[in-house]
Amino acid sequence: MSLERRLRAIVGDSHVLTDPDTHAAYVLDWTRRWSGRARLVVRPGSTAQTAAVVQACAADGTPVVTQGGNTGLVGGGIPHGEPPPVLLSTRRLTRLDPVDPVAGQVTAGAGVTLGRLHEHARAAGWAYGVDLAARDSATVGGTVATNAGGVRVCAYGDTRRQVVGLEAVLADGSVISHLGGLVKDNTGYDLTGLLTGSEGTLGVVTAARLRLWPPPPPGVTLLLGCDSVTAALALLPRSGLRAAELMLAAGVELVQRVSGLPAPLACAWPVYLLLETAELPDLPAGVDAAVSPRLWAYRERHTEAISTLGVPHKLDVALPLGRLAAFVEEVVELTAPHHTFLFGHVAEGNLHVNVVGPPPDDTSVDEAVLRLVAGYGGSISAEHGIGIAKAPLLALNRSAAEIAAMRSLKRALDPEGLLNPGVLLA
Ligand code: FAD
Ligand code: MLT
Ligand code: ZN
Repeated sequence: MSLERRLRAIVGDSHVLTDPDTHAAYVLDWTRRWSGRARLVVRPGSTAQTAAVVQACAADGTPVVTQGGNTGLVGGGIPHGEPPPVLLSTRRLTRLDPVDPVAGQVTAGAGVTLGRLHEHARAAGWAYGVDLAARDSATVGGTVATNAGGVRVCAYGDTRRQVVGLEAVLADGSVISHLGGLVKDNTGYDLTGLLTGSEGTLGVVTAARLRLWPPPPPGVTLLLGCDSVTAALALLPRSGLRAAELMLAAGVELVQRVSGLPAPLACAWPVYLLLETAELPDLPAGVDAAVSPRLWAYRERHTEAISTLGVPHKLDVALPLGRLAAFVEEVVELTAPHHTFLFGHVAEGNLHVNVVGPPPDDTSVDEAVLRLVAGYGGSISAEHGIGIAKAPLLALNRSAAEIAAMRSLKRALDPEGLLNPGVLLA
């Protein structure tokens, strides 16, 4: 029986898409920089179906690329290469169990969106610790696979810190399930930890057991105008911090133009710091500040506003905090004369360097910026992952021995290299 017929028998005809016209939304990424071709798109509706799909593809020798909300920014969920992979969409894996109020945990299917998870937790009197602007599309599985960060890392940590256990399908179609919610469990290798952040290269996550937090009491959102990045860093409160986002004038002005928002402060500043804190922090006299939760719009609309100018080169990096200000100056010079926008989660030294101007397939600016980052002792991927975008440059951050160990793990779990070929390990 052909692979297509086998998959139809597993998931039903309406969940196997073979017409390339219906693939468009699956084979082009959010930035429009990464595109590819899929043999077909398959949408399993349960863990058992996912396992059967992966098994059928393995038997056929056909690679599988997993995709959740397709909001990833490094091309990891876009099929590419020969033979064209099967694209496995997890969006129908929408199991969402009742919140366990004793443990403060919930089990969520891989296809549940972050937005739905937040609603579900809130309705039960809890909060989920990871949040990002793509919340209405990004999925639990995608955020686990990329170990997503977002705007609450300074308060709750990244996705890895929320994941108590996982259920996943391995490359041979076998299912590993660790959803019992035990916080203490020293029974051998931490497979949950290994799969978290593995970008779909070691298994297809079908569900996650996630920790929840007591909802924080109402806090304060404020926007501060600053003379420089150094001045902004000095304003970071040492306690009670719930979010800290840096923006530069070019980005804030672009958001104003694209969104029609008014100027956020009495005057324009070279640097802006958006803070969310438990209570109003002590500020030096004369700081230009505004207070309102609506100020989040200036930050959250950066990504869309930048995309209106063209296809951005998105470089998500982390710098040692003490060297961040010097890096900002140097990277702006390095990327001139292109449009460069810098913003990000500043408490973790996480900057998003977005460059618009170079053609999408020209990687020279990417390489120059990432080499600069490595020279500063930084990370070439703070939160978006390596994907296909940065796979050739992994050695900027990882030693030959580390990459060899990663390859051994990949070979052990996916000997035929069927899961997300070309992602993470070039
Ligand atoms: P996809 O894009 O579908 O996939 C991403 C990767 O995960 C791919 O390699 C894919 O193969 C793999 N994958 C997906 N699902 C599974 C699964 N079930 N099992 C195994 N592998 C899987 N990211 C941040 O970290 N912080 C931010 O603040 C942030 N803000 C964003 C704002 C906007 C407007 C946008 C567009 C993106 C933002 N992102 C951010 C990036 C993106 O939202 C995250 O990387 C997110 O985790 C991707 O989730 P997804 O479901 O869309 O995954
Ligand atoms: C963000 O923090 O807004 C994101 O990670 C998305 C981006 O880099 O554009
Ligand atoms: Zn981010």
